[in-house]
Amino acid sequence: MIYREILRWAVGQMTLGRHSIHGPCHWMQVWRNGRRIAKATPGADPCVVALFALFHDCRRVREGRDPDHGRRAADAIGQIRLTLLSDLEERQFDLLLHALVSHNDGQVSDDPTIGACWDADRLDLPRVGIRVSPALLSTAAARVIVQSGSRGPAVRLSRSPAPRPGPAR
Ligand SMILES: [Fe+2]
Repeated sequence: MIYREILRWAVGQMTLGRHSIHGPCHWMQVWRNGRRIAKATPGADPCVVALFALFHDCRRVREGRDPDHGRRAADAIGQIRLTLLSDLEERQFDLLLHALVSHNDGQVSDDPTIGACWDADRLDLPRVGIRVSPALLSTAAARVIVQSGSRGPAVRLSRSPAPRPGPAR
C-alpha cells in the first residue's frame, strides 16, 4: 500500500481548504490514534484503519453538520479500488466501506477494525473542544488512551511501501 499516493489522492478530493479542522492534520492524528488502538486490539486490521484515517473526511463539504460525508467518501474510493487500493482484499474493502459510511452516526461497534477506526476519529474530538465520552468508544485500547491522556508519536509518510503500527509511545 503506497500511503503517500493515497494521501495525495485524498487531498485532491477535498473541497474544504487544506487547513480545515477536518483536513490532513486531523487525518494524521486519526492515523496516529488508530495505529495505537489497532496494535492493542486483537483482530483489528491496521491497514484498514490507516485508510479510514486518510479517507473518512476527505469528501466533507462543510465543517459543521455534514451527515452524508461518510457516504460520499465511500462512494469516492470506488474510483481507486482497482488502482491505489488494488492490494486490499475484498473483506478489507468491505470493512473500510462500512467504517466510512457509518462513522458519523454516533455508533459503537463490536468489530475490532470498525471500532478502532471510529475510536481513532473520536479521540481527536478535543481539537474542536469536545470531550471524549468513554461511552462512545468501542475499544478498551481507546478508553485506556483517554484515561492516560497521552497522545503518541506522529505518523511520518516515508517512501516505504507499508507503514506498520509502531510501538505505542
Ligand atoms: Fe474525522
